[in-house]
Amino acid sequence: MTGAGVVAPDVVEAAAAAPLTLVVGEVNLGKTTLVTRVANALLARGLRVGVIDADVGQSEVGPPTTVGLGRVVRPLERLGDAEPVALRFVGATSPVRDQAGTIAAVARLAVRARAEGLTHVLVDTSGLVRGDLGLRLKQAKIDALAPDLLLVLDRGGECDPILAPYLRAGRPRVVRVPVPDETRARSPEERRRHRDRALAAHFDGARRVTLDLRRVVLRRPALFVGEPIESEELLDVAAEGTELLWGERRGGEIAVVSRARLGESERRGLSRRLGAQGFVEHALEDIVGMLAGLEDAELDMLALARVSAIDFEERTLAVETTADVDRVVSVNIGREPVARRGE
Ligand SMILES: Nc1ncnc2c1ncn2[C@@H]1O[C@H](COP(=O)(O)OP(=O)(O)OP(=O)(O)O)[C@@H](O)[C@H]1O
Ligand SMILES: [Mg+2]
Repeated sequence: MTGAGVVAPDVVEAAAAAPLTLVVGEVNLGKTTLVTRVANALLARGLRVGVIDADVGQSEVGPPTTVGLGRVVRPLERLGDAEPVALRFVGATSPVRDQAGTIAAVARLAVRARAEGLTHVLVDTSGLVRGDLGLRLKQAKIDALAPDLLLVLDRGGECDPILAPYLRAGRPRVVRVPVPDETRARSPEERRRHRDRALAAHFDGARRVTLDLRRVVLRRPALFVGEPIESEELLDVAAEGTELLWGERRGGEIAVVSRARLGESERRGLSRRLGAQGFVEHALEDIVGMLAGLEDAELDMLALARVSAIDFEERTLAVETTADVDRVVSVNIGREPVARRGE
C-alpha cells in the first residue's frame, strides 16, 4: 500500500499552506509515493485536493502519452485511485519528445483544477532532472506553473542546479524531503511493461470507427486546413518513384503527405517546383499506426485512438477507440507508434 505511510509533519504543513505544489526528483526516489501520501494527509484535513500526473511515461492518472488531473475523494492506495477529472493528450511517452506540449498540458490542468474548486493541487513529475536537458525542462515547468512549493527528493544535490534561481529569489518555497531507504528501482523493462499494460487496459472494449475529417478537425498534423492541390499537379511535380497522397496550400506554405518519407533533395525539388515559401512534409507512417488523442470541445482527451487508415479522397480516418465519436471535435496524432518495432 503505497498511500498508507506517513509523511513528515513539516512537509504536510508546507503543502497545506501551498495551493500548488510540484514534486521534483530523480527516477525511483519515491515521488509518486510522496504525492500520494501528501494528498491523503491533506484530504484527512478536510481540504479539496487535486493531483496532476505529469509523468507521460509511467502514468497513473490516465494512460501513457497523457497528463491527467484527478480529484482526491477518498484515501488513495495508489495515485491512480484519484477520480479522473480531465486528461490532456501529449502524444509521447517521454517529456523530452514534446517538452512544450507537456508543459502546456500541465499548466492548463493546473488552471482547470482551480476552476474545479480544488484548493490544493499536487503535481507529480517524471524523473528527468539530470543534465542541461533536465534542468531546462524542470525550470520551464516551474516557470510556467509558478508553484508555491517545491518538494525536492534528492540524494546528492543533483537538483541543486535546477533550484539555484528559486533559492536565490526566495520563491517558490523549497522543502527537501529525505529519500526513503526502502525505495525499489523499476528497471526499464518493468517500465515498458507498465506502459504497455496501461495502454492495453485503456483500449479494452475499443471499436473500429471512421471519423469524418470534414467534421472533425485534424489538429496534428494540421491537414485539410488549406486549399487542396489537384492530384494532376501533384503527379506533375513529383519525381519518379515519389508518391504524394495529399497536398494543400495555405498562404505561401505547402503541406504534403507522402507515401514514403522524402529525401532532402526531393523535398527541396518539390518545394521549388510548387513555388512554396514554406514546405511541410508528413509521411504516411507519421499518421497510420500511431497513437492519437480524440479531443472534445475543451480539448480534453475523450480517449486514445489507434490510427489504422486515412483516406484522402473520402477525408476519413479509421481508428480504434472507446470514445463516443459524436463528441469528438478534434484529432491529435502523436509521436508514439501503437506498437514498437519487433512487437
Ligand atoms: N517512503 C517509502 N517507503 C517505502 N517504499 C517506498 C517509499 N517511497 C517509495 N517507495 C517504493 O519505491 C518504489 C518507487 O517509488 P515511486 O514510484 O513513488 O518513485 P518515483 O520517484 O515516482 O518513480 P518514477 O521515477 O518511476 O516515477 C515503489 O516501489 C514504492 O513503493
Ligand atoms: Mg513516479
